[in-house]
Amino acid sequence: MAAGDYMAVRDAIKKIIPQSSYDDGSAGPVLVRLAWHASGTYDKKSGTGGSNGATMRYKLEASDEANNGLEYARKFLDPVRQQFPWISYADLWTLAGVVAIEYMGGPKVDWKPGRVDDVDEQYVPPNGRLPDATQGEDHIRSVFYRMGFNDQEIVALSGAHNLGRCHADRSGFEGPWVPMPTRFSNTYFKLLLRSEWHKRTNSVGVEQYNDEDNELMMLPTDMALVKDPKFRTWVEKYAEDKDLFYRDFAAGFGKLLELGVIRGPEGKALRQYARAKL
Ligand code: HEM
Repeated sequence: MAAGDYMAVRDAIKKIIPQSSYDDGSAGPVLVRLAWHASGTYDKKSGTGGSNGATMRYKLEASDEANNGLEYARKFLDPVRQQFPWISYADLWTLAGVVAIEYMGGPKVDWKPGRVDDVDEQYVPPNGRLPDATQGEDHIRSVFYRMGFNDQEIVALSGAHNLGRCHADRSGFEGPWVPMPTRFSNTYFKLLLRSEWHKRTNSVGVEQYNDEDNELMMLPTDMALVKDPKFRTWVEKYAEDKDLFYRDFAAGFGKLLELGVIRGPEGKALRQYARAKL
């Protein structure tokens, strides 16, 4: 297979998405989460973190509590990487998120190659940069503003919780947000606006919000999106207008994957460009 044949890589990623013995039969949601956590460590002031370098290959970042469970996503991608050894992990992880979103019925997200894997740990970002689901709107804003996102983009990106589920043994939370967690949609926003969510201590002693049958769930940070008036305006818009949500999600997710990726003349992301800005 020719180096640089990203269409072939996309096809190979699609083939590993159905996983009959995993979660809801799909690797899609956890691949989206891998792309997000690989990118969401970005700090715009120092230019550190972000998807370039694939620093989650190193123990320090892989063992950040926020990344519990992402070893499944990385393992699902191993056969793809074996088939295409020329692709960087940083490109593979971000591309897998884009392919998974589209596979699950979501929008097409612009994606560019060129990320380069680090060869040592010197650029591994510190633990604790990813959001903590037990917190509220101030915390959400400080984490996402640090990356360079605004309120509208925060709400659009949060719509990824249409996908997948929480696992008691990974985050301490449990359950899916929506009844069909492997189909991309704006159902999450519609459900958020229902008033029946009640606070409940789950089976491992963690407080979360559940619907009346305790089948669907919301995190404290999800509930902050309806409590905070500025966030809520966008939740209402996205609940009403699926096309607007898809458009804004695609833009936000594309931006997320590019954070800190500064390409040199040959299109390769280079560490020294970021370092020069420090
Ligand atoms: C899952 C927190 C934003 C995508 C989760 C889980 C938590 C969480 C606690 C459950 C993990 C587990 O137990 O397996 C948060 C917080 C956020 C946030 C606190 C911001 C305030 C985002 C964003 C995206 C995203 C921006 C993507 C654009 C996902 C996906 C899953 C997930 C797809 C499901 C993973 C799976 O099924 O294995 N999130 N998240 N999240 N998150 Fe988020």
